[in-house]
Amino acid sequence: MLGRLGYEYSHNRILRNGSNFLVVMSINSTKREFSEELPAAILDRRRLPDTQFDLLWDSIFLEKDMKDQLVNQAVVGMTLRANGLGREVIPTHGVVLLIGPPGTGKTSLARGLASRIASVISGGATFLEIEPHALTSSAMGKTQREVTKLLGSTIPEYAAAGPVIVLLDEVETLATDRQKLSMEANPIDVHRATDAVLAQLDHLAEKYSRLLFIATSNFEGAIDEAFLSRCDLVIQVPLPNTEARRSILKDTIEGLGKQFPAVRKLISSTEFEKVVQISNGVDGRSLRKMIASACAYKKESAIDPGKLTAESLLKAAVALAATKRVK
Ligand SMILES: Nc1ncnc2c1ncn2[C@@H]1O[C@H](COP(=O)(O)OP(=O)(O)OP(=O)(O)O)[C@@H](O)[C@H]1O
Ligand SMILES: [Mg+2]
Repeated sequence: MLGRLGYEYSHNRILRNGSNFLVVMSINSTKREFSEELPAAILDRRRLPDTQFDLLWDSIFLEKDMKDQLVNQAVVGMTLRANGLGREVIPTHGVVLLIGPPGTGKTSLARGLASRIASVISGGATFLEIEPHALTSSAMGKTQREVTKLLGSTIPEYAAAGPVIVLLDEVETLATDRQKLSMEANPIDVHRATDAVLAQLDHLAEKYSRLLFIATSNFEGAIDEAFLSRCDLVIQVPLPNTEARRSILKDTIEGLGKQFPAVRKLISSTEFEKVVQISNGVDGRSLRKMIASACAYKKESAIDPGKLTAESLLKAAVALAATKRVK
C-alpha cells in the first residue's frame, strides 16, 4: 500500500566526487511493511520519495529561487553532517523552519520538501509527521515526559535504521517562547517541555547525521529564541504575489475544469485579471476556496460549476478582499 513500505538499512557509504562530496546512503533491498502500529504522537509515517508529496510540492506557487534554496539548504546540512564535519566547525542541527501567515502553503511545502530531499538520498528516507497537540497536556509534567519519549526514544529508533525526515507542524506548540509565558496554563510545565525539546535536539544533532526536522509556524514571536537559533535555515513563506495569485487561480480553475470543462473559459475573461489584482493580500488557501464560494452565488453554478460566470467570480473576489482589509 502506498506509503506503507519500509526498508531495512544495512550500511552507509560516502564517496568523493572530485572536490564535491557525494553522500551515498545505501540500503539492502529487503522491503518490509511498517509492521508496528503508528507510535504515539506520530500522525503519518511513510517511505520517501512519495508521489503524493511531489504533487504537493508542484502545487505551491512560489518564486523558484525560494524552492531551490529550501532544497539546497536542507541537502547541504545533511551532506556536511554525513561527511563528519564537526559540530564545533558549523553547529548544524538539521532543522529547517518555514514561517508565514496561515494558508500560505507551509505544510504542503514541508511535505513536498521532504520528498524532494529524499529523492537525492540514495535509498530514500522515512517520513514521520508529529502531531504536536498529542504531546501537550495540562497534566503536570506530562508534556515534558511525552516530548522526551518522542525525541529521546521513538525518533532515535527510526534514525538508527536510516535517513529520517520529521515534520514538526505548528512547532510553537512544542518550542514555546519561555520568556512570554504567562502565569496561566501551567507555565512551569511548558518551560520544562521547551527545555526538553532543546536538549533533545542537541543530542539528536550530535548523534544522527541523517536526521532532518522540517518545522512550520504561523507565529515567529511565539517560538523560543533558543529554538530559532538552532534552526539552520528560517524561510519566510510570503503571501502570494501577483504572479503567484494568477497561477493559483488558473490552477484551481483548470483543476475544476477537469470535471466541469466549461469553467475554463473564465481564465481568458477580462474579469480574470481584475480578480488577480483585487485579491492582493489574500493567501493561497483562501484564493482556492474563493472559486467554490463564487459558485455558490447562483443556484445554476452551485449545481453545475461549469456555469460559473466571470461576474460571480469578480463578486467573490471583491467580498474576499474586503474581509482581508477589515482584518
Ligand atoms: N503559494 C501557493 N500556491 C498554491 N497553492 C497554495 C499556495 N499557498 C497555499 N496554497 C493552498 O492552500 C492550501 C493550504 O495550504 P497549507 O495547509 O500548506 O498552508 P499552511 O501555510 O500550512 O497553512 P496554516 O498556516 O494554516 O497551517 C493548500 O490547498 C495549498 O495548495
Ligand atoms: Mg500548516
